[in-house]
Amino acid sequence: MVGGCRLVGEVRVTGAKNSVLKLMAAALLAEGTTTLLDVPDILDVEIMAELLRRLGCEVTHDQTGGVVAITVPAVLDHRADYDLVRRMRASICVLGPLLARCGAAEVALPGGDNIGSRGLDMHVEGLIKLGAHAVNEHGYLIASTDKRLRGESVYLDFPSVGATETIVMAAVTAEGITVIDNVAREPEIVDICTMLNEMGAQISGVGSSTLTIEGVDALHPVTHRTVPDRIVAGTWAVAAAITQGDITIHNAKPEHLQIALEKLATSGAVITEVEDGFRVVMNERPKSVDIVTLPYPGFPTDLQPQFIALNAIADGAALVTENLFEARFRFVQELARLGADVRTDGHHALVRGRIELSGAPVEATDIRAGAGLVLAGLVADGTTTVYGVSHIDRGYSGFVPDLVRLGAQIIRVDEPH
Ligand code: UD1
Repeated sequence: MVGGCRLVGEVRVTGAKNSVLKLMAAALLAEGTTTLLDVPDILDVEIMAELLRRLGCEVTHDQTGGVVAITVPAVLDHRADYDLVRRMRASICVLGPLLARCGAAEVALPGGDNIGSRGLDMHVEGLIKLGAHAVNEHGYLIASTDKRLRGESVYLDFPSVGATETIVMAAVTAEGITVIDNVAREPEIVDICTMLNEMGAQISGVGSSTLTIEGVDALHPVTHRTVPDRIVAGTWAVAAAITQGDITIHNAKPEHLQIALEKLATSGAVITEVEDGFRVVMNERPKSVDIVTLPYPGFPTDLQPQFIALNAIADGAALVTENLFEARFRFVQELARLGADVRTDGHHALVRGRIELSGAPVEATDIRAGAGLVLAGLVADGTTTVYGVSHIDRGYSGFVPDLVRLGAQIIRVDEPH
């Protein structure tokens, strides 16, 4: 890509990657056909579809219409193999539903994004609380129960998104009442709880820090529309700010991005709500903004690299604190190849804004780092080549065509393997 173009126009955001993968796993809880709408056309959805097929489901994916239909049989296989799980950490989300449906689950320990240790202790402890046995053998997490799981009080040490989802999906058909304290409150958690309730589950407290789940005997299939992707919407918002552009983002919920949009406003952007989204206009060089990542409703870690890119060309210096994933600053070394002035110390990064970045070849190390590097390339002098685009494919559908429509000078070149 060649930097220097102002991005102007409109984009539509699809359903959230971080929700739809879990909704696909939640479909396992009900025999029959569950249909998901507004599904993004991204690699991770294909990986999850393949995983569900191997468990015995039929999965169809109409890419243009964004519809995934999952037909779940009466009897499921309960093993998720390493060859798929290693490609996508979110595969772990089949653990809870498989245990609930089959009384057993064998899930390879995941790989996925290269952004830190990402333990599973809270997932496992929660399942054990509900009566499961769990062992780690030969690279697999093996959970089983000889009778129906039973409701219990569970307290999470940290509001983990994944652990909340695993325990909720295991608890919806447990016997009795489960109370989970200190749960994650992300919009994607609200989305999965909403869908489970539509399927017949009895979850109350949705969106708060405590979920109370009254176990039911069985769930039924439904049709459900995926919540819009707030991280993709936030990425377009930064794209407008960093290029001093003007982008209207449709199918986006500003209330899911409150802190991030406030930061952009502090940086100098003018943000206005439109009927189904919001518009971001930047008419001056952005000003630096400090960032502290925290669980929702705090600033999302998945927008941290994009905001470091913004700070890299902003007026002033910013302190960015990463509290969720210790290795997320790895991409800073790549950003430095574009001339960014960023120093890291533990989980802090000090970013001193430069008037201009300088195009160079760089490597995406995870989805959001990839997005951050593309944004930086948009304002770098000369040509920037981002390698590792398969990372970006995991989370952004039609990213390059959308950028071209907005006025970026960018082409996609397939990488040799
Ligand atoms: C999800 C999102 C990811 C996002 C993150 C935080 C998906 C597919 N991914 O990841 O994009 O960045 O939420 O918003 O939805 N932890 C433990 N033990 C556990 C569970 C988590 O130590 O049992 C730690 C992790 O190592 C990490 C932190 O808790 O440091 C946050 O993890 P979690 O909220 O679970 O994130 P994910 O579900 O992995």
